[in-house]
Amino acid sequence: MKISKLISLIRVIIDWLWDLAKTFKFTAVVVGIMALAFIGISVLIGMPPFGFVVIIGFVAAPTAWYIVRAQRKSTSTVSKLTNVRLLTVIFAATLGTMVAIQAIPYGRSHSNPPITGEPQWATPRTRELMVRACFGCHSNEVKYPSYASVAPISWVVQSHVDEGRQAVNYSEFDKGQRRAKNTVIAVTSGFMPPSYYTQFGRHPEAKLTKAEMAELIAGLKATPGLSRG
Ligand code: HEC
Repeated sequence: MKISKLISLIRVIIDWLWDLAKTFKFTAVVVGIMALAFIGISVLIGMPPFGFVVIIGFVAAPTAWYIVRAQRKSTSTVSKLTNVRLLTVIFAATLGTMVAIQAIPYGRSHSNPPITGEPQWATPRTRELMVRACFGCHSNEVKYPSYASVAPISWVVQSHVDEGRQAVNYSEFDKGQRRAKNTVIAVTSGFMPPSYYTQFGRHPEAKLTKAEMAELIAGLKATPGLSRG
């Protein structure tokens, strides 16, 4: 009973949006391109799921409110709306969203808890290469770039650091890092560092040459606890 009500409500909303899109083709195209660009770039840089929800919600809510109000006020449906008005509202909502989300504290602390223990690196060079390619997410020595203070980029950076540390933290190696034994395989398979990390020319220091890669893998294999068996 409840589910069928929900489905019919969703249907009403979709019909409403579809009518709106047909009436305001220009707006629909602009919004479609903006949405695709936003989603595409967000996926490439590894935006956490809540980032999509918050940003799309913050833009959509005032826009929907404006459209519903304009439709209620006019006798004939949608007569008060124009492409120019709709786009103005959507751009204003986008701008407002960019300002409003700066108030969300997640991602601003840029924490680096104390270093309690590291693997017994085979050579200093092994550590040096690990610092370059991996410590940006898997250590308590994260260097936060200046753009990491601006939401939603700050959320992206923080979520990578949180998840990376949770998977393996090479600065807390004394605390039993269960997944550390996957280190060699993560590097040889190309799984790590994640492709989004070096996307758009970011973190060039993490892009190791073939020779450096071979050096790193040899060093990791000779470091206890980083490979299987
Ligand atoms: C941009 C942040 C980032 C960088 C840089 C990075 N990692 Fe990761 N790493 C992650 C995240 C996030 C996960 C968790 C992925 C998951 O659970 O699916 C992870 C998971 C891992 C795991 C656990 C894999 C498993 O299957 O158990 C290992 C080992 C690892 N990374 C090693 C490395 C090494 C070695 C480097 C450097 C060559 C590196 N990472 C660079 C973010 C990063």
